[in-house]
Amino acid sequence: MCVGVRMRRQTSGRVLSNVNSTTSQDGDPLIYHLRDVVKTREAEGVAFRLRIPSLQIAMGEKIALVGKSGCGKSTLLDMLAFILQPSEVGDFHFRPERDEESLDINACWKSGNINQLGDLRKRYIGYVMQTGGLLPYLTVRENMNLCRSVLGLPPNGMVEHLAEELGIIAHLDKRPDKLSTGERQRVAIGRAVAHRPSIVIADEPTASVDPYAAEKVMSMFIGLAEEFEITVILASHAWEHMEQLGLRQLTHETIRDHNRMFTETVVTG
Ligand SMILES: Nc1ncnc2c1ncn2[C@@H]1O[C@H](COP(=O)(O)OP(=O)(O)OP(=O)(O)O)[C@@H](O)[C@H]1O
Ligand SMILES: [Mg+2]
Repeated sequence: MCVGVRMRRQTSGRVLSNVNSTTSQDGDPLIYHLRDVVKTREAEGVAFRLRIPSLQIAMGEKIALVGKSGCGKSTLLDMLAFILQPSEVGDFHFRPERDEESLDINACWKSGNINQLGDLRKRYIGYVMQTGGLLPYLTVRENMNLCRSVLGLPPNGMVEHLAEELGIIAHLDKRPDKLSTGERQRVAIGRAVAHRPSIVIADEPTASVDPYAAEKVMSMFIGLAEEFEITVILASHAWEHMEQLGLRQLTHETIRDHNRMFTETVVTG
């Protein structure tokens, strides 16, 4: 089993500008450094604004964003995964690895360098989607291997190791529709971790299982993140399972106008 060997991660054709290293108060390098970032969304006259005056996340941190439906959790996660372009940016830097420089993500968006953002996302970010997102025509093994095969990484026992840890080893050759919801969520977590990204972003990874299963899945997830030194950012409706896992909770405040046509959430942390 070669899962203990740290894989080399590279980004090809880097053209992004660098900044000086920035660190957290504890001296850890920051993976994300955001200042005055805003995302506005509007549909049928109903507007939403997410405002982030300041957000700093250190490498190896485990972060939770806990809030009610519609407060902007997925909007924030999608911006952090370079899926959604922010509307306004003071500063948005991302450090792919501990010993690398921070990259100016806003410069990438502004220059239309979508391919580079896609490359960064593929290589350094694992995403557990709110809706699961497993491909129904692939087996569990193939689903878990998906990010690895997109990156051209050879088989190294990682998928089997994760399946063992997540308690789904017996299901590797099944398709997702033959699994329970909780098993599918564990596959989605395994898939997000298997290529050893720097960070895993998880949007409500335990939303559709009972509280007992949610606690179990969550502690498996955090255990894997610690084993592989992966930074974690996760969104959830409920804080109860996360407090004992040592997650840092981002603070946020949501304000709605009286007729609910405009909502603003301010996140800091
Ligand atoms: N594509 C879109 N166009 C316009 N508004 C959107 C869009 N997607 C989401 N919104 C609005 O943005 C706000 C934040 O949505 P978001 O999905 O980030 O919330 P959430 O906290 O993830 O909610 P949930 O817990 O239900 O997943 C909501 O008011 C939503 O209606
Ligand atoms: Mg959401």
